[in-house]
Amino acid sequence: MNDLTQNNLNYKKYVVDSKLRYFKSHASKIEKTFAEEISSTLGIDSKFITPKFFYDKKGSELFEKICTLPEYYPTRTEIGILKSLRTELPCYLDESFRLVELGSGASVKTRLILDMFTSLQNTTEYFPIDISEILTESSEILLNDYDNLRITGIIDTYEGGLEFLKNYSDKKNLILFLGSSFGNFSPIDGRKLLQTINSTMKPGDLFLIGLDLVKDIRILESAYDDSQGVTAQFNLNVLSRINDELDADFDLNNFSHHSVYNVEHQRIEMYLKSLLRQTVVVSKSNLSMNLEKNELIHTEYSHKYSLDQIRELLEGAGFVINHIWLDEKKYFSLTLVSKV
Ligand SMILES: C[S@@+](CC[C@H](N)C(=O)[O-])C[C@H]1O[C@@H](n2cnc3c(N)ncnc32)[C@H](O)[C@@H]1O
Repeated sequence: MNDLTQNNLNYKKYVVDSKLRYFKSHASKIEKTFAEEISSTLGIDSKFITPKFFYDKKGSELFEKICTLPEYYPTRTEIGILKSLRTELPCYLDESFRLVELGSGASVKTRLILDMFTSLQNTTEYFPIDISEILTESSEILLNDYDNLRITGIIDTYEGGLEFLKNYSDKKNLILFLGSSFGNFSPIDGRKLLQTINSTMKPGDLFLIGLDLVKDIRILESAYDDSQGVTAQFNLNVLSRINDELDADFDLNNFSHHSVYNVEHQRIEMYLKSLLRQTVVVSKSNLSMNLEKNELIHTEYSHKYSLDQIRELLEGAGFVINHIWLDEKKYFSLTLVSKV
């Protein structure tokens, strides 16, 4: 694909050197989308903020801190499973694969997969896709540690990055989607995203997805309401971001973190609770909103799955399951699929 086509897709290209380049949506487009989405999701009765807006620089740093908390089992459990794949996953790969990652964040777990790739290939092509600028920092850190890596980063939504990938080249892709980030999507939006991933894939491509499993409610609830209050800071930080970027006047002292496991829908639900009756103005969204005392703003779902539901979900989106790997406690899963 040439640069002209990439410009048509509204990306600005940044070439750092022969090993590293980024494509990023134009700043004006990003701000406009943020302002418009906030206007439509906070300007209604059941207020919500989509979780993709958590990840400004501070939000991404706070998420990395969450990953190290004793209560937050998903990260260390998924790392344990990835380590156990050292011999098994390479059997599905060969020297011709590119590594693509949705929501790559700090690219920490990626290293376990990159180790497999670099043992199979002379040069490995890595294609991280993340809405957060953390992507640039993590790519530079990776390049210091891996000599034979070439990185093309897409700073955009999952859907934007997948569209970019579709037009890119016909090399085979292993697409990673770790951390159970998929669980943030509602069932309807999740199905749509899986179909988009499926339609982006070519025969021979692979998709490895990490999904969190249903378990004891106490383990689930403490993972999203830790004793040090880091998850609370992460949740509240989205209001600081709206203040900074959209000229809003949220007073963070007037909100608290609230999270609960919804047994029927098998999901953690995270909210920001208004501690008093208040009016908040978001200037760049042309919005003035009234909040009642105890009114909730929904900020995140984190769905949990049974193995049957994982099979149904992935097969329903047109995938063939190659393998499902679990940890010993059956807390977390990694599923490798191909396109039918
Ligand atoms: C829960 S973190 C997971 C990070 C890492 N993959 C892991 O497993 O630890 C989600 C990552 O996806 C990115 N992200 C969230 N929503 C996104 C979206 N809609 N499109 C692109 N990236 C998104 C965030 O910036 C963040 O880096």
